Amino acid sequence: MSAGDAQQFWTALEKLPRPTLKTLFSDAARLTRYSTTLDLPGGPVIFDWSKTHISPEVEALFGSVAAAMDLEGQRDALIAGEKINNTEGRAAEHTAQRGVGKDTSVEEAEALHARMRMLVEAIHEGALGEVKSLIHIGIGGSALGPALAIDALTREGAKVAVHVVSNIDGCALEAAIKACDPETTLIAVASKTFTTTETMTNAHSALEWLREGGVADPYGRVIALTASPEKAVEWGVDETRVLPFSETVGGRYSLWSSIGFPVAMALGWEGFAEFLDGAAAIDRHFIDADLAENIVVRAAFADLYYTQVRGCQTRAVFAYDERLKLLPDYLQQLEMESNGKSVLADGSPLTRASAPVTWGGVGTDAQHAVFQLLHQGTHLIPVDFLAVKTPGHDLDPAHHEILLSNCFAQGAALMAGKASDDGARAYPGDRPSATILCDDLNPATLGALIAFHEHRTFVSAAMLGINPFDQFGVELGKAIAKQIEAGGGAGFDPSTEALLSAAGIGG
Ligand code: F6P
Repeated sequence: MSAGDAQQFWTALEKLPRPTLKTLFSDAARLTRYSTTLDLPGGPVIFDWSKTHISPEVEALFGSVAAAMDLEGQRDALIAGEKINNTEGRAAEHTAQRGVGKDTSVEEAEALHARMRMLVEAIHEGALGEVKSLIHIGIGGSALGPALAIDALTREGAKVAVHVVSNIDGCALEAAIKACDPETTLIAVASKTFTTTETMTNAHSALEWLREGGVADPYGRVIALTASPEKAVEWGVDETRVLPFSETVGGRYSLWSSIGFPVAMALGWEGFAEFLDGAAAIDRHFIDADLAENIVVRAAFADLYYTQVRGCQTRAVFAYDERLKLLPDYLQQLEMESNGKSVLADGSPLTRASAPVTWGGVGTDAQHAVFQLLHQGTHLIPVDFLAVKTPGHDLDPAHHEILLSNCFAQGAALMAGKASDDGARAYPGDRPSATILCDDLNPATLGALIAFHEHRTFVSAAMLGINPFDQFGVELGKAIAKQIEAGGGAGFDPSTEALLSAAGIGG
């Protein structure tokens, strides 16, 4: 496998003719070929990639890149638990958490889930007294997944009210504690490393709040979710309330492990188990479906086509469902922290573009804010639309009909464009979009959507030859912040020095 061997196919992709979407649709079989319905545990989901510029010719060349990069071998190595995270010398075993992977890793995950289930059910049954709220403290991969799942799945109520706190800005924790009573609140400290400054500072302040609120043993109200159990015990959490997950589960892929504890607390164990099942169904599709029928691979090929061949620097995701409004935030970390790299896995320079900037929002709000640029700006921006057939509310069905009509109208308008003698009113059209339409939004469907994006991100990395499982680019900023906090705020550039002095810190 070598990025060099793939180069000729990338060059050929660049030289391919570029028929418009309208021309591509003159093939009567296009919709059947590129819009696939998967029957998933949470109900059918349509993955419609027909309004992208993917074509048999484009796919054939991507197939050659895939062969040169041994995409299938890399996928099998991921699932088999081989040490594909070469820079950190470990495997990336998030799929084992949902039962798909190396036997010993699946067994280890099952043992963790059994413990987690016991604890969740014991708390629901009152083992820790009355519990009305859980403040979940974590950041990045230890917070974005729980926040998304809880926001998406508990709008009609939850067994326990979960407040996810991530930012070091005290305003974030303060908002959560204002909504809780120390007598009936538990604290989940979620950190793979159990060293992250934001999380440990927030956790410390949350314990202070419990203490000041009259809780005699604040540590007795803490559950630790971590791959560093010894650090959690050292910090003061009793072993019985430490839920340790494997070091081979990456932070931004950890929602399936004990980092999902708040999700199980809010939904109940059955709901969390359904969430895992939905993800496992996508794992099996990714493993079993031929490349040509594989929706994960197709989506990644389209992503790569726009970034590598058409020079797109961003990709936008719009959730036409209020319940999925945190999905773009979640995908930003997943895609940008995984594939925002300038080196290949072997350390040599990446000579192609890395991951695009992922951004987005919620429809229809975004239509009235940023869609002008999508339709008429000079940038070509591939768009994903996500929508759900069944509404998440009991109001007049007209709300949902208008919502979905707008979603589909945007995709149609992006593609069709509009001629006009008046340039100000003309739209170029031929702008790509993909649409994911879920029958229902439930734990299994959300699990499937997240797993789909995890594997999509992996395929993009594998096709380029980069390691999506490390994130060394975040280290320097953390180190400098620590240096400043320790009082070593001298010797920086003049701008930084002046800002530190103006804020009165670091001196
Ligand atoms: O700074 C980036 C990062 O390391 C993420 O990859 C991770 O999800 C987050 O920080 C939090 O890390 P931890 O779970 O160890 O607190």
